[in-house]
Amino acid sequence: MKFASSFSALLVVLPLISTVSGVAVPRAQKGGQQNAQAAAAAAKAAQAKGGKAASTTAAAATAAATTAAAAANTAAATGNTGDLQTSTTVDPSVIQTTDNGQNPPVAGQSAAATSQNNFVNFCAIGLPNVPITNGLQITTGSCNPTPIGNIPSVDNMPSSKFQSPANLDTIASDTTFNVTLQTKGIQLGTFTNAAKTYFANPQTLNSQGQIVGHTHIVIESIPSLTTTAVTNPQDFVFFKGVDDGQDAQGNVAVTVAGGLPAGAYRMCTIVSSSTHQPAIVPVAQHGSLDDCVYFTSSAGGAAAGGAAAAAGTAAAGTAAGGAAATAAQAASAATAATAAKGAKATTAAQGATAQPATAQPATAQAAKGAQSAKGAQAAKGGKKGRRL
Ligand SMILES: *[C@@H]1O[C@H](CO)[C@@H](O)[C@H](O)[C@H]1NC(C)=O
Repeated sequence: MKFASSFSALLVVLPLISTVSGVAVPRAQKGGQQNAQAAAAAAKAAQAKGGKAASTTAAAATAAATTAAAAANTAAATGNTGDLQTSTTVDPSVIQTTDNGQNPPVAGQSAAATSQNNFVNFCAIGLPNVPITNGLQITTGSCNPTPIGNIPSVDNMPSSKFQSPANLDTIASDTTFNVTLQTKGIQLGTFTNAAKTYFANPQTLNSQGQIVGHTHIVIESIPSLTTTAVTNPQDFVFFKGVDDGQDAQGNVAVTVAGGLPAGAYRMCTIVSSSTHQPAIVPVAQHGSLDDCVYFTSSAGGAAAGGAAAAAGTAAAGTAAGGAAATAAQAASAATAATAAKGAKATTAAQGATAQPATAQPATAQAAKGAQSAKGAQAAKGGKKGRRL
């Protein structure tokens, strides 16, 4: 918990830290991260411009080195002749001039801290008790001085959706299965040494302006699909970084060897930059970059959730909603006739939730939908092996 709260604090601090030259890139060069190297190469190339600009420098510059190149160009424009990416002083061209946000004051809104130097020495405040993160996952908390880096446009905000298991699926317990995730707006497949370079580089973008990074799959055991119990982030049953880039359909997959014991689960993504920090996007208001689905596992993969709804718990308005969801799932997998039935159930159940007066007939239809869902899910279960 201590780490979790420190982590939250770090997330609060991160936005305060702006681009500071000379902090992260030398580390990136040491770490050998491809993009950072390309960026450094591009920066040098840009600085050497007019002198001995070789054809190889142009090639290096094409590899997603937009920022470094821009920084070098700015340096050239401001007459700075040193290498900004190895300098240990902040270049005037990158100083943020953000005020405290309270001019004029807005009631209830806090004033932000301000800085003359991009908070470059912010972490000195906590030393020696709060160590510099320095590429390590320090479970007792730390202070990270690396800037956020490049932020994509609104057209390049990552989006994630699990394809399988899908929301409310029931899978066979204790049986190896694949998780399939579809993403867009991010270039997956790049991750650095999590034990030595954690949060150690700024976020970078590829030549299409998409975040270069990777994602993770985490599965937590929960008491039931409808639980309201708050989870413990230190407690999960499966975690895997996704090593690969997307296939032609935008999918990535990981295998859960041996499957999961019978029970209910929450499965979420954690979409990240190369050095594992959460993906950062340009606007505060946006849809979730991550996905979470809830599923159950049981012997043989029977549709336990749907069956329960059909068995009579659907009498309650909320249960009818659950049944409708299962029915809707069935609709996509079943025949046209069953699909129509399922769709009816969905509409009816929605009406039931919104208008208690019509709940009675709606519930009956929802239960019917759930029953057809049972069959459809069983059929789906059979196909699972091939589909993945
Ligand atoms: C998981 O995916 C891999 C790679 O495509 C495949 O070889 C394997 O058979 C799949 N496993 C299951 C249980 O579907």
